[in-house]
Amino acid sequence: MSQSEVVYLNGDYSSKKEASLSILDRGFLFGDGVYELIPIHNKKIFYMNDHFDRLKKSLELIDINPDIINQIDFKTIISTLIDTNGYDNHFIYIHISRGVDRSRNHIYNTDIKPTILVMGENYQPFSKEIIQEGKKAILEDDYRWLRSNIKSTSLLANVLIKNKASSDGAYEALLIRDGFLTEGSASNVFIVKNKLIKTPTLSNKLLPGITRKFLTDLIKKHKLNFKECDISKDEVLDSDEIFCSSSTNPVVPIIQLNDNLISEKAGPVTMNIYSHAQEFIKDYCT
Ligand code: PDD
Repeated sequence: MSQSEVVYLNGDYSSKKEASLSILDRGFLFGDGVYELIPIHNKKIFYMNDHFDRLKKSLELIDINPDIINQIDFKTIISTLIDTNGYDNHFIYIHISRGVDRSRNHIYNTDIKPTILVMGENYQPFSKEIIQEGKKAILEDDYRWLRSNIKSTSLLANVLIKNKASSDGAYEALLIRDGFLTEGSASNVFIVKNKLIKTPTLSNKLLPGITRKFLTDLIKKHKLNFKECDISKDEVLDSDEIFCSSSTNPVVPIIQLNDNLISEKAGPVTMNIYSHAQEFIKDYCT
């Protein structure tokens, strides 16, 4: 990513290097804000309406008026960034904080204007070879707050957990709360047992992933066995296959969990869903 790349901040376009914010921005001081990460494939915005619906919901849940979404032409901003920066495949990061306040005070003033940042980042999704090889994950206690359905920029727990996974040589940490799987530190999680695909039911304990949604739709369309339900830690460890889903890499097979080998390489059910997802994205974005 280059520092000369153009970003949108509060109505202006400037280079990433020049864009700057007040130290009294509540996003900086308190992580008081929400965000979205929207994949761009072949210069096309993937599942834009779903991402904006989730952004509105997140704003509503932290008491920021979601109408600001309708007052800004995000489609034009995103298209401008795509054209100016010239990327094909990358993601767009939208960050809305409560805004710049008059002082550092936990209690916010309700008349401040939200800060809006839109920027792009290039990324290279895993190749099919890497996907077939699969990745390692660790199990970790889900010690995050109980509002994980909000796509909040307060990500300290996720950051610490993902870094623990990374320093253990793992791609992801699968999170267990009260004996049950919630999600990954930056992804949703699916398991497969005897060809039945399962993922945790949506609640305040996990993010309603857009990739989770489109994979679930695909699984149903292809009439694969599927259930949303509680999944115990023992069931996770006893899975035939596991995969993580997120906007950056829709299907990432997990073949090892701590010291337990789940499978030698990515399993057939996971690879089938991976192929359907790749095909779907290609069709959607051409
Ligand atoms: N994270 N759960 C968590 C905690 C996440 O951070 C993410 C995505 C997901 C998957 O959501 P989606 O399918 O809508 O990308 C689930 C993004 C990639 C991030 O924070 O960078």
